[in-house]
Amino acid sequence: MKKIIVAIDGFSSCGKSTMAKELARYAGYIYVDTGAMYRAVSLYAIRNGWMTETDIKEEELYKHINELKITFKTDEHGEQQTWLNGENVEKEIRTLEVANGASRVSTLGFVRRELVRQQQLMGQEKGIVMDGRDIGTVVFPEAELKIYLTASPEVRAQRRYDEMVAKGEHPDYSEVLANVRERDHRDQNRSESPLKKADDAIEIDNSVLTRTQQRDELRKLFDAKTL
Ligand code: DC
Repeated sequence: MKKIIVAIDGFSSCGKSTMAKELARYAGYIYVDTGAMYRAVSLYAIRNGWMTETDIKEEELYKHINELKITFKTDEHGEQQTWLNGENVEKEIRTLEVANGASRVSTLGFVRRELVRQQQLMGQEKGIVMDGRDIGTVVFPEAELKIYLTASPEVRAQRRYDEMVAKGEHPDYSEVLANVRERDHRDQNRSESPLKKADDAIEIDNSVLTRTQQRDELRKLFDAKTL
């Protein structure tokens, strides 16, 4: 069977990683969450005091960007974990503070160039499902299957709100929605590799699909490319 590269791009909280993980399991492919890589850079910058709510010390981050070693390992429950310089940081990178920082460091050209370089190395052998914002446009413009996943801001904010409530938090829905809109705006309007649909990407709006419908749709598209 032919090995391919699958690129899944789209807004935050629209279910990209669920979709990508499911397809990787089905295909026996490697799964790479590139958002986790930007989050790891954000965590590194925050921990070193190079990023506050109002400021990023770009020169410091630039000097140290090559020191970051980001890898993925599967834990005993089969869940993928993000490692940064030998430490499992999966929990730390999922906070709102780190997510907001990731959205900011991802606007920096030198950060993107370094992460894109690492992502391209990961995909050299193909057999990979990668999700992010620029996978089909910048990282692998030659990917055989490109998906552009969308869902309305309200649907995505509700999903994030439900996740936070399930974790025992007490979020305010209008704040969650405002945060979704703010990150969408930054993702689409940054000058470096903004989020946009590649010309040859297939758009799937999952506001209206169940998880099973979405999974089946993706498997069909994948089979058509590989069988
Ligand atoms: O998908 P996520 O929420 O984990 O992504 C975190 C941030 O990183 C998000 O603000 C967008 C950015 N990102 C990016 O610019 N390019 C990617 N390929 C992946 C994520």
